[in-house]
Amino acid sequence: MEKDKVYVFDTTLRDGEQVPGCQLNTIEKIEVAKELESLGVDVIEAGFPISSPGDFNSVVEISKAVKDPIVCGLTRAVEKDIEVAADALKFAQRPRIHTGIGTSYYHIHYKLNSTQDKIVERAIAAVKYAKKFVEDVEFYAEDAGRTENKYLARVVQAVIAAGATVVNIPDTTGYTLPEEFGAKIKYLKEHVDNVDQAILSTHCHNDLGMATANTISGVINGARQVEVTMNGIGERAGNTSLEEVVMILKSRKHLKVYTDINAKKIFKTSRMVSTLMRMPVQPNKAIVGRNAFAHSSGIHQDGVLKKRENYEIIDPKAVGINESSIVLTARSGRAALRHRVEKLGYKLDKAKIDHLYEEFLEVADKKKEVNDEDLKILVGKEKRGPRSIELSALQVTCGTNAIPTATVELEMQGQKIIESAVGNGPIDASFTAVKRIVNKKVRLEEFLIQAITRGSDDLGKVHIQIQHKGSTYYGFSANTDIVTASVEAFIDALAQVV
Ligand code: KIV
Ligand code: ZN
Repeated sequence: MEKDKVYVFDTTLRDGEQVPGCQLNTIEKIEVAKELESLGVDVIEAGFPISSPGDFNSVVEISKAVKDPIVCGLTRAVEKDIEVAADALKFAQRPRIHTGIGTSYYHIHYKLNSTQDKIVERAIAAVKYAKKFVEDVEFYAEDAGRTENKYLARVVQAVIAAGATVVNIPDTTGYTLPEEFGAKIKYLKEHVDNVDQAILSTHCHNDLGMATANTISGVINGARQVEVTMNGIGERAGNTSLEEVVMILKSRKHLKVYTDINAKKIFKTSRMVSTLMRMPVQPNKAIVGRNAFAHSSGIHQDGVLKKRENYEIIDPKAVGINESSIVLTARSGRAALRHRVEKLGYKLDKAKIDHLYEEFLEVADKKKEVNDEDLKILVGKEKRGPRSIELSALQVTCGTNAIPTATVELEMQGQKIIESAVGNGPIDASFTAVKRIVNKKVRLEEFLIQAITRGSDDLGKVHIQIQHKGSTYYGFSANTDIVTASVEAFIDALAQVV
């Protein structure tokens, strides 16, 4: 099957970088540009050289740093802009000047104070002037989304005749519907006589959340370049996101197009851009969000474990994510629990898994997410089996102006015994009550409460060391309630003495 190539024009470093607070220095921009080169983008829009010395310098340095992609500099349809861009691109192996002007009624009348005829003249002049410096000239018809198709066709035909190699049809305000944007591209394909001498490009903004849909509609109707940013970053609601478009074109084979993007590098590039630009990726962002391949409900987890395709249309490995994550929460089922326990290297029979599941649910009810550390502790308890002493109830009173008091109920040899005690804190009071029940002479040698590392709902871990008749005994426990964890760890050690 013959497939057409769709060129990927990345504007993360130009349109993407216009986001307030996301500005990069030249070194960071070079780092991103190199990453984009290894990702396989065809064009890197490196900046708007006349806008600032920093932007000029970045275009110079990126031109030196990358060799495969075309390096592009943005200009207005102004001679000075074009001269400065040409100068900034002088070291590029494959330079492109991206020049253009507004073509919508709004832009012509309220921004440029001009007429349709004069805009066509300025567009032609800008392309011809840029052609004096570089062979590859892209023209943008700003606000093409809101430009009437007949006039747009006239502009496009004129700039192609003037030498434009690519014509960009931006939906600058993110206003169009997918069917309108697709129809626009189709109209240009059918009504511009010389359209085959240039590539039509999409450049869609996301103001109504339709940037990706509009871009795909453009491709379906004949656009062969897509202008995108990593993670969809960009001014206001952002630009079209590279990862979404690339993965749509890759997964929907009937579209008969391809890109040269090495999709396995998508996740890494996404995180690099997010870190350098200090712009977190929203958790539910398609393809690269933290939750894009995470399953938390029991039904979905069971389905994914039976066959990934039941609930996933893309293999996470295809975009460089190791595997789908099964997030263990109170809504997870036994299948997900068994899967994770086996991944951790434990083999438990059905009865043990059933029992573990009960304990898991208790923890999951107290915590948002049960992690691997929590599971190892639960499995450890499960493997250990029953002890000679078990804690059946614990109640403590403590706080400012209260006398710390504990009531403990232990089960020993089938008998339940209750004792109360006071102490200098809830743990001291509980330990005294336990000692009264067990009635053994033991000395507490080591008592370690491990710091909470993740969130305030995490399991607290307690390690204990006691001495009895010259021998040392160790106890361990973990619980979201730190007093319970301490008492259980103490009992764990005492159970070896009794
Ligand atoms: O959105 C837009 O119209 C642009 C042009 C300058 C290409 O970014
Ligand atoms: Zn834009």
